[in-house]
Amino acid sequence: MNHAQAPVIDAIRQYREKDHLAFIPPGHKQGRGVDPRLAEVVGKDVFASDIILLNGLDNREMDRGVLARAEELMADAVDADQAFFSTCGSSLSVKSAMLSVAGPGEKLLLSRNAHKSVVAGLILSGIQPVWVDPRWDGRLHLAHPPGPDAVDAAFRAHPDAKGMLLITPTDYGACAAIRETADVCHAHGRPLIVDEAWGAHLPFHDGLPAWAMDAGADLCVTSVHKMGAGLEQGSVYHLQGDRIDGSVLAARASLLDTTSPSSLIYAGLDGWRRQMVEHGAELLDTAIGLARETRDALAAIPGIGVLGRADLVGPGLADDNDPLKILIDTAELDRSGYDVNQWLRERHRIDMGLSDHQRMAAQITVADDGETTGRLVDAVRSLVGRLDEIPVAEPIDLPSPADLELEQAMSPREAFFGPLEDVPAHRAAGRIAAETISPYPPGVPAVLPGEVLTQPVLDYLRSGVAAGMYVPDPADPELATIRVVAR
Ligand SMILES: Cc1ncc(COP(=O)(O)O)c(C=O)c1O
Repeated sequence: MNHAQAPVIDAIRQYREKDHLAFIPPGHKQGRGVDPRLAEVVGKDVFASDIILLNGLDNREMDRGVLARAEELMADAVDADQAFFSTCGSSLSVKSAMLSVAGPGEKLLLSRNAHKSVVAGLILSGIQPVWVDPRWDGRLHLAHPPGPDAVDAAFRAHPDAKGMLLITPTDYGACAAIRETADVCHAHGRPLIVDEAWGAHLPFHDGLPAWAMDAGADLCVTSVHKMGAGLEQGSVYHLQGDRIDGSVLAARASLLDTTSPSSLIYAGLDGWRRQMVEHGAELLDTAIGLARETRDALAAIPGIGVLGRADLVGPGLADDNDPLKILIDTAELDRSGYDVNQWLRERHRIDMGLSDHQRMAAQITVADDGETTGRLVDAVRSLVGRLDEIPVAEPIDLPSPADLELEQAMSPREAFFGPLEDVPAHRAAGRIAAETISPYPPGVPAVLPGEVLTQPVLDYLRSGVAAGMYVPDPADPELATIRVVAR
């Protein structure tokens, strides 16, 4: 296919050049009605390119195939049979993916380190989760995706499960053995869905971990705004083979999708595909080299640890890792990742990704160069001389991996929609949670609706919040009270 084309971007250009006059949404009418104070900040071009799809970018019957051609090009670029653009982030795509293989009351295998959007999908759909335990690294207190053996055991115990949803890479950059997991699923006659929200770059460089479509998965979901260079909320589902019916996926996705997709977000997806096909290998090569140099420079700073492949990959751990994720360990400085993250933002205007009790993550993408990574290294170096500005880490009661596995006493849907009450945290142990509690980022729930709360998990979350952990989902984000199923 001719990847120099960019159907959405070309349609936006033509629409603007042909001086269309709209009597349909968006009501700003390509910027004519926008408040100038808004346009001054975000740019008038944003509005000029914000064009309705139906009877705007394309005709009323979509017979120019603008979106369809852009999706075909995307599928071709990443070795999928079909690609579907979505403008509602992978939070929505992952729900559509789940619905494409299972319906209310049916079982789906899910790795327990799932993103909170998966839990929302369970609550909305009534799909019954069968949790597959992640591989826990008790030393670093990290959860890695489950291995194929655990998936095989789960299918043997639940042969009626409709498929498996695997999350890889994690926000920490840890990756699963997709090929082997797909083989297990297929041996049981079931599809593998991969939540590859963090993997939009993977198809475009051989030195990166396996891309789900190349490794035999049936359906994968990516967020092009995360590791790619699309606009926020730009997400794509990729489908191959015949274990999942594309028309079923499209029909179920449309239950959730917007009827007013953003042309700007579509353009971001179209532009990313063209950029990657034409220049991806070279751009990602540079990014990988830059990440390596940055990791080395950070590791040379006294007191700063940098987690590398040897810490993440190996027997009982992950199967691969994304070299573009740099995990900075602050344990030796006796400072938490939460507080260092905040200090870097306030002092140096450096914004980091996830942080936890002793780490924070920096992602390197095709947007970086020696200047950006140099600024990061300089800021982290200056941290070591300014420790008096950052509080000493508050102790967090970290539970053992076994303590993190909570009993599922009710389905997430029943617990979430049932009669509720808020109880003081010190009286919550033994009660069934009616809310999701996820340290954010990465947004992987420690507690799900329907799970029985235990003292070690409550102690972990409450001491975590006291130490700077951010838990936005519960009714009381300070966790003085917990929302539980009423007795
Ligand atoms: C593993 C995983 N899946 C899905 C999502 C949701 O993606 P989005 O932010 O594009 O809605 C995230 C977001 O962090 C994630 O980490």
